[in-house]
Amino acid sequence: MFGDSWSHSADLQEAAASSIQFDKRDRVHGQRNTTGDINGNLVPEKARSGDWKGEGDKVNLAEESLLNKMIRHALVRNRNEVEVLQADPTSPLYSVKTFEELRLKPELLKGVYNMGFNRPSRIQECALPMMLAQPPQNLIAQAQSGTGKTAAFSLAMLSHVNPANKWTQCLCISPTYELALQIGQVIEQMGKFCPDVKVQYAIRGNRMQRGVQLQDHIVIGTPGTLLDWCTKYKHIDPKKITMFVLDEADVMIATQGHQDQSLRIYRQLTKDCQMLLFSATFEDSVWRFAERVVPDPNIIKLKREEETLDNIKQFYVDCKDKDEKFTALCDLYGCLTVAQAMIFCHTRMMASWLVEQLCKEGHQVAMLSGLLTVEQRAAVIERFRSGKEKVLVTTNVCSRGIDVEQVSLVVNFDLPVDFDGNADSETYLHRIGRTGRFGRQGFAVNMVDSKHSMDIINQIEMHFNRKIRKLDTHNLEEMESLST
Ligand SMILES: Nc1ncnc2c1ncn2[C@@H]1O[C@H](COP(=O)(O)OP(=O)(O)OP(=O)(O)O)[C@@H](O)[C@H]1O
Ligand SMILES: [Mg+2]
Repeated sequence: MFGDSWSHSADLQEAAASSIQFDKRDRVHGQRNTTGDINGNLVPEKARSGDWKGEGDKVNLAEESLLNKMIRHALVRNRNEVEVLQADPTSPLYSVKTFEELRLKPELLKGVYNMGFNRPSRIQECALPMMLAQPPQNLIAQAQSGTGKTAAFSLAMLSHVNPANKWTQCLCISPTYELALQIGQVIEQMGKFCPDVKVQYAIRGNRMQRGVQLQDHIVIGTPGTLLDWCTKYKHIDPKKITMFVLDEADVMIATQGHQDQSLRIYRQLTKDCQMLLFSATFEDSVWRFAERVVPDPNIIKLKREEETLDNIKQFYVDCKDKDEKFTALCDLYGCLTVAQAMIFCHTRMMASWLVEQLCKEGHQVAMLSGLLTVEQRAAVIERFRSGKEKVLVTTNVCSRGIDVEQVSLVVNFDLPVDFDGNADSETYLHRIGRTGRFGRQGFAVNMVDSKHSMDIINQIEMHFNRKIRKLDTHNLEEMESLST
């Protein structure tokens, strides 16, 4: 149980400061059209690409056409390609077992196949037997972005519940409203053939009468609302929770606000409650902390060099200042709309500024940041998901978990940094992981505008031991070879 360890945030700081080596138990190494305004409302198309692109700007056109070519190539995809990847033992999508061999209930098997999944990914293959074991076992699991962690824990929850018991048995916490909605949708889709299993969303705006006890078996939500539902409104009896899932677990236990709320929920659970922690990243200090507070866990951990994915090609563009970054972004605009793109900014203010500038230039983009109401946020993400909007300017609120398979390009307009201005490698990995979902090809372009931001690129390269190439229009051939 998290118990006392979680009652003092000083513990986390202490855990963050100490430096103990990991133990090695059980490790497995494993055509532009309608878009929206900043409030998420649809706006009419204002300009065609020729209106804004500088005539005779041959270099940028060459760059753009190459990226377009690469991205189009990346979009060509059929079932056979996934199967080839899943047969490659070095791929995180590889598995030796079938879903049948994972002993899923027939109705869940039907749900999985109905979603178009043929074989489990490595994380699904490894984690499911641990999560379904009797007696229940705790698990801290790391797997690369886009490799199917959601399905893994969703199947565990759907297998775990007893529909005859009309109370909440599984809680799943996610750091953002959008991600909670997305996870719930996966659970509902997967559980399509389990009509007796009910799912509820503990998210802002979803209100119920005080004191009404939920009969829904699985509740997915954000920490603040879930805490209210457990304590203030008594919709959920935490003592009856037998499976507790933390998605994006590292941010849930390392970020002050999330941590405070999450720990207040944990402390109300019984010691027999099964704990399942998932993320693509666990900073060293967070691993140690997680291992200390989760009793006797199974561990699935990646080596640092395994964390980044080969299918996501990483570049940087050398700019002098913010204005040049903006110009470079405009030059890339044609690529952004080939499939879909997400542009990350450091602050809501910068995201608003960028959207305003892009709109002034006649480009159409959507924005999602914490400035919007929850209804607007839900509407923006749904339109982006359905492809009605091609370019989404956002902040870290969308850096984790969001799964939109058509996203082929991620742009870091601002590089991810921590409070001290140092590289935030974990956030970098999550942001670029919004592309390259389940083995697809993806591109990540980083805007560099100072020596400091070049240092950040270097820090990130060193962290993952992986080269980030200069997007150099004089070296088109090399870039092309990189994309294949
Ligand atoms: N076994 C499978 N076969 C085919 N597709 C799958 C399988 N499992 C998951 N997927 C698909 O892979 C995509 C990524 O899955 P998911 O969002 O769970 O990744 P994740 O590991 O949680 O990534 P992140 O770290 O970014 O949160 C989804 O579109 C999902 O439908
Ligand atoms: Mg996820």
